Amino acid sequence: MQKLIIGNWKMHPAKATDAVKLFTTIKKGAGVLRHVEAVIAVPHIYIPLMAKLATKGVSLGAQDVSGEKEGPYTGEVSASMLAQYKVRHVIIGHSERRALGESPDLIAQKVRQVLAAGLTPVLCVGEKERDGGMWYLSEVQAQLESGFSLVPKTQLEKVIIAYEPVWAISSTENRKDATPEDFEEMSIYIRKVLADMFGAPKAHTIRVIYGGSVDEKNAAGFLQKGADGLLPGKASLTPKKFIAILTIANEIR
Ligand code: PGA
Repeated sequence: MQKLIIGNWKMHPAKATDAVKLFTTIKKGAGVLRHVEAVIAVPHIYIPLMAKLATKGVSLGAQDVSGEKEGPYTGEVSASMLAQYKVRHVIIGHSERRALGESPDLIAQKVRQVLAAGLTPVLCVGEKERDGGMWYLSEVQAQLESGFSLVPKTQLEKVIIAYEPVWAISSTENRKDATPEDFEEMSIYIRKVLADMFGAPKAHTIRVIYGGSVDEKNAAGFLQKGADGLLPGKASLTPKKFIAILTIANEIR
């Protein structure tokens, strides 16, 4: 299966004109790559603008969504609204949103709404820190159990899991590098948790990608250790780096 590379722009770039330039440059660089799936998750306000630029080769993602279908929810954007503007993937439960107080129940609702709108949820899980014990495994287990709690059995394989250890994200203070082995260990654990919930055959159809300071230097390592894709944040804002990551992923299938 092709690797899935999702650039998470977070709250960047500051100007819409720069967003257009960035997307266009990435699209040009990615144009020749036939064996990788590229997605760019942009700030909501840029979505209609980016929808004009999005292609099958570089498609559009969102960074969040409402947990409700429609109604009196000031400031919220629904999954079906995103779907009308060519959004295909929606990041849900990113650690930066969990830190703002997003609850496990709300994250589960968001996953459900995204699936109901025919879009692909990218459910972020990951421990805040590793303290030497094994507690971090139960933290991720709990995030998986709640994140999948409202997913219909027939749609399990549509959910993509992004393992993002918070301690490895580029903006985390005193961050540390996660190694491909860290990813590999956790991906085995994630599949075990999924197998306990849904059975081994289903667990193997669910894609697990890695995020946390991914760049052109470490991308190959994570992909070679079985990551189904990557979720670079900072590196997705530098076309040269993002295109280099796509090129690496294009070769490792
Ligand atoms: P980073 O961000 O690549 O800048 O660490 C990844 C993320 O938080 O999604």
